[in-house]
Amino acid sequence: TKVAVLVSGGGTNLQALIDKTAGGELPQVEIAKVISSKDGAFALERAEKAGIATAVAKEQAEVLDELKKSGAEIIVLAGYMRVLSPEIIENYRNRIINIHPSLIPKYCGKGFYGIRVHKAVIEAGEKESGATVHYVDEGVDTGEIIIQKKVPVMKGDTPEDLAARVLETEHKILAEGLKLVIDGLKGGKK
Ligand code: GRF
Repeated sequence: TKVAVLVSGGGTNLQALIDKTAGGELPQVEIAKVISSKDGAFALERAEKAGIATAVAKEQAEVLDELKKSGAEIIVLAGYMRVLSPEIIENYRNRIINIHPSLIPKYCGKGFYGIRVHKAVIEAGEKESGATVHYVDEGVDTGEIIIQKKVPVMKGDTPEDLAARVLETEHKILAEGLKLVIDGLKGGKK
């Protein structure tokens, strides 16, 4: 299955998919293209090193064009910091997934991204946090949940400590979530 990955930054989630695809854990996946919203995103270097086609697309119309050219059947948002246009959502309904670094519906939506999520979890005194893979619909972090995994918040955790622990879990469940969608177990046949 051809997959396009949308990125904006460091690309550690992309790297996890690259490693698992190459390593045989995701044999059914071909990462056809990596599309970044930002020039110079390190995720682009990761893709180039893996011999994957890349593109930078800042406007949603460009993103849609790159997606169509890639032939991707499934789209993975991996650290992608933009809201997709309704046109893209319509074109790829129930075939777009996102990884979010919290137990959605907690600490998600506008304003909760990157380190802010973990700062809020710690300030709220939560005993646990986690990561979520969900379908992307017109809202922000509002689509049906595909898979979620909990992570403990440890005493004395800084937001950076928690971010790193959650990121490890993101890498694991993103691949699992992608498998579920491809296998159609999660309504991939919708
Ligand atoms: C991380 O905060 C991750 O939780 C979220 O996007 C950020 C960057 O991810 N998904 P990546 O390292 O660019 O994949």
